[in-house]
Amino acid sequence: MYAAVVDQIGGTPQYREVAAPVAGDGEVVVAVEAVAVENVDRAIVAGTHFSAGPFAASLPAVPCFDGIGRLPDGTLVGFGGLTPPRGALAEYVVVPAGFTAPVPEGIPATTAAVLTTAISAMSMRTAAGLQPGETVLIQGATGVAGRLAVQIAKLLGAGRIVATGRDAAALDSLRALGADVLITTEGADDEVVDAYRAARGDGFDVVLDYLWGRPTELLVRALVPDAFTFPSPTRLVQIGESAGPGITLPADAIRTSGLELYGAARNLAAGMATAYGQVVDWIRSGALTVDVTPMPLSRIADAWQRTDLRGSRLVIVPDRITEGENRS
Ligand SMILES: NC(=O)c1ccc[n+]([C@@H]2O[C@H](COP(=O)([O-])OP(=O)(O)OC[C@H]3O[C@@H](n4cnc5c(N)ncnc54)[C@H](OP(=O)(O)O)[C@@H]3O)[C@@H](O)[C@H]2O)c1
Repeated sequence: MYAAVVDQIGGTPQYREVAAPVAGDGEVVVAVEAVAVENVDRAIVAGTHFSAGPFAASLPAVPCFDGIGRLPDGTLVGFGGLTPPRGALAEYVVVPAGFTAPVPEGIPATTAAVLTTAISAMSMRTAAGLQPGETVLIQGATGVAGRLAVQIAKLLGAGRIVATGRDAAALDSLRALGADVLITTEGADDEVVDAYRAARGDGFDVVLDYLWGRPTELLVRALVPDAFTFPSPTRLVQIGESAGPGITLPADAIRTSGLELYGAARNLAAGMATAYGQVVDWIRSGALTVDVTPMPLSRIADAWQRTDLRGSRLVIVPDRITEGENRS
């Protein structure tokens, strides 16, 4: 079979023939249909992710560790539980038996590959308890996860949606998804702080933060009142770090701003089943749209180096699937 193989940390995966995997006791062979390439996968291959060690230690290795595929009986499933060097960017994978779950009817494999990103945006409810009518700020709204989050905030009944990003055209496109106010994180620090203050209104009830780094430092500055007041709480959910892995958090911000910090995983175990069902229903009905760019596994080297997919998720599809579609 063919797979995408990385020979060195920082390298580009190459389409190459490898031995087909054989299922042992308690394992099942899954015929792969779709694998989303996410920032975490790129960071592991680049060696910059905290969990990159086992991948680096097992080179040559196949990246990406979950996806969508078919069981021998034809059932379409999501799979996980892979460990290096055997990743998901392959025609077939061997998966521990408990690490598959059926994909709901009516969800195409390429869309199903992005379900986890959509479900993670539900943390504005599971982690922060978003209530209808509240104001939500999506920090880093122009990426794949952020564009889903804007739509989900709308579907959850947010009263006002504030979206931030650094690309003017991408930001503008968020109005059609439900954003009411747009803030650019480009510009001098004081200008960005002023923009957050101007957009604050009665306060940001919930922030879903995909950026961290400088934009979040500036947001926190904007939340600090300039007089003795009792600001309403801002429940900030930390979910990504596209703009940086750390921030400086001044003591007065915690003391005075009403800022409450949560991780996206808060309450996830209890809320996951409901969040999953809700997201699936929205996708089936067309209320939630997921933008994917499928590319064949044989073109993995080109696909991996694409930088033009802003807001669309790269999804790798084995050639037997793309060739089948072209024939039909
Ligand atoms: N914990 C979870 O469950 C979960 C789930 C999904 C995503 N995430 C995390 O959330 C983050 C976003 O994921 P994604 O899939 O949406 O990624 P993505 O599609 O690559 O989008 C990244 C976004 O960040 C913006 N960005 C990058 N660097 C920036 C900077 N220095 N200042 C301002 N904006 C910047 C990009 O803007 P441009 O388009 O202008 O480059 C883009 O809007 C990642 O850290 C990812 O790992 C976490």
